[in-house]
Amino acid sequence: MKRTLFTALLLASLALASAQRVNIQTENMSLVISAEIGKQPEFVYFGSPLNPNETQTVPAPTGGRMDAYPAYGMNTPAPAALACKHADGNMSTQLAVTGTEITPNLVTIHMKDKVYNLKVDLKYKTFPGSEDIIETWTEITNNEHSTVTLTNFASGMLPVRRGQVWMSHLYGSWANEANLSQEPLKPGEFIIRNNDGIRNSHTDHAEVMFSLNGKPQENTGDIIGAALCYSGNYLLKTVTDDTEYHYFFAGINPENSEYHLKKGETFVTPHLAITFSKEGLSGASRNFHRWGRLYKLAHGNQERMILLNSWEGVYFDINQEGMNQMMADIASMGGELFVMDDGWFGGKYQRKTDNSSLGDWTIDKNKLPQGIDKLLSDAKKHKIKFGIWIEPEMTNTISELYQKHPDWIIKAPGREPVPGRGGTQLVLDMSNPQVQNFVFDVVDNLMTKYPEIAYIKWDANMAIMNHGSQYLPMTNQSHLYIDYHRGLQNVCERIRNKYPNLIIQACASGGGRANWGILPYFDEFWVSDNTDALQRIYMQWGTSYFFPAIAMASHISAAPNHQTFRTIPLKYRIDVAMSGRLGMEIQPKNMTDDEKALCQQAIKEYKTIRPIVQMGNLYRLQSPYDRLGVASLMYVTDSRDKAVWFWWKTETFMNQHLPRVKMAGLKPNKMYTVRELNRIDNTPLPCEGKQFSGAYLMEQGLEMPYTHDVDYNKRNAWASRILLLE
Ligand code: GLA
Repeated sequence: MKRTLFTALLLASLALASAQRVNIQTENMSLVISAEIGKQPEFVYFGSPLNPNETQTVPAPTGGRMDAYPAYGMNTPAPAALACKHADGNMSTQLAVTGTEITPNLVTIHMKDKVYNLKVDLKYKTFPGSEDIIETWTEITNNEHSTVTLTNFASGMLPVRRGQVWMSHLYGSWANEANLSQEPLKPGEFIIRNNDGIRNSHTDHAEVMFSLNGKPQENTGDIIGAALCYSGNYLLKTVTDDTEYHYFFAGINPENSEYHLKKGETFVTPHLAITFSKEGLSGASRNFHRWGRLYKLAHGNQERMILLNSWEGVYFDINQEGMNQMMADIASMGGELFVMDDGWFGGKYQRKTDNSSLGDWTIDKNKLPQGIDKLLSDAKKHKIKFGIWIEPEMTNTISELYQKHPDWIIKAPGREPVPGRGGTQLVLDMSNPQVQNFVFDVVDNLMTKYPEIAYIKWDANMAIMNHGSQYLPMTNQSHLYIDYHRGLQNVCERIRNKYPNLIIQACASGGGRANWGILPYFDEFWVSDNTDALQRIYMQWGTSYFFPAIAMASHISAAPNHQTFRTIPLKYRIDVAMSGRLGMEIQPKNMTDDEKALCQQAIKEYKTIRPIVQMGNLYRLQSPYDRLGVASLMYVTDSRDKAVWFWWKTETFMNQHLPRVKMAGLKPNKMYTVRELNRIDNTPLPCEGKQFSGAYLMEQGLEMPYTHDVDYNKRNAWASRILLLE
């Protein structure tokens, strides 16, 4: 009798408790949060979808701290997502749920401090399609009697059960971006931090993946992926302490950025996108790619034009005739767009090298006497589109802009500014609304005068070197980093509203702005200033963990390469560039007729595979980081009826042994016909024109010869293959 009553009571209390559980579900994953009124919200589950009954019954995790958004103060030894000083100076916060709102694609858990009028909404957003991504963030509102100082304000926290958990993340530097690093999580804290102020993906990246079943595998295993969507400084922190969990925090880097939240003001943290996949790292990448193309990237559903960018071809040596010649050349090779890079502007100060004129966005009449009108009419003549380079957030000490507005630059109060590139470059203070208007006008003036400009390459070649705003009051100097990016976002927003069709590339000394926080305003990013095809394989491999090929500008450049001085044959350079958004970064005038013909052929082939590469699903097959002498990946269409397979030999030794690469993502029972693209061999591959089942290609793969069958005088150390399967 006693027992029955106990059971009934237990069941009743369970029902009450479980009724507060919220299941945030997508097609292939569930995130369950318990949101009991009066208590802190708690993480319950993240993984494959749960059925409704399970949602209520899966046991709450034990052996760890499950606060869904831990605040500092009532369990001080534990790391917190939120920390603040209340209006009266109290440094402790204790959040409790006050209600939950559930709409089809948004769950809001309302919280309030148990004592203070500080409100925090914890948000979870899903997407209408089959995207396995949840975006989470918080909105912190100060309803106290005066200012609350935020000292920590992460976007979210995710507990990950200890086990054989490995982390994959990207690191690098200028010209060596997006290297892949993979290591098991060990006790202690693993911190990924960015303090550049302007660009945030050179030295590190705001995205990670956790492999939950040991050493990371590309196409098997359970993966949690996370991407912080923010263009500014960030802090990703994985804490492994004496409990059974790792705790992953991600958000704006609060260092030197304490935020004074005015009475009545709401602070919105950047979105943190999380995903779960049972199909290995590549599976998690495909989730990010699909979501990115559909909901983040500007024009993510439109195929990109094949372009020639002038930088490595002529550097600052811009002139009317030279531009016309480059346009004629790219048009004759089948290209669709020409982009005039740095060097075209400057009034009083000519932009001859990198030490002057940023901010003086008027055409240099010495170099281009007939102006942009002539360039546009030439482009029209060649039946291609025209694009132009700007670096609107910057100026130089040698510029009319700086002479007129010395107060517009970022510098520490009472000190000389710290210059960057060219010994003269300075950053404009985007926290200042006047500067925001100026930056908007740079684009607006160009587009108003020359509405036929189809593409803008938006560069940003400097960090915030000295902390200080001449606009912000001394009491709010710590808002600089945050307000800079709010200003930037505001400008981007205005540009996008007025020019929704304009194509804009995010360049930032190469790959400094590869982040989902900025990409809603940009169509693509320049992966790296390093165009060396071999090193690009490594950088593009890393970049592909979080970003789709359609966003990765990947250009054929000269040999020897201008950064590494390595000489790589054109065929290989083409085969690497074709795995991303294909373009050229070369002086066509210096190419032989044979080389031009090869590029022309490649551009033609690329047009046939463009939808597969740019819209397809990526399967990474053989990592260059495994150093087995070969790297390989493929793109497969949604319906799995077509695929493109890339294979690059990354090293050459006599009588070496290379692994045979197995394919992935195909339909096992479907027959695929193989055709090699960009063929240079005297004889076709044995598989040419033959049919193979998806099952065979995925279980056995195709044997590739280690060298190309070309005439003796054309032999070299490189080999690469692209196969079209249909
Ligand atoms: C940066 C960019 C390059 C080029 C130059 C021009 O380095 O990354 O692609 O545009 O600026 O100065």
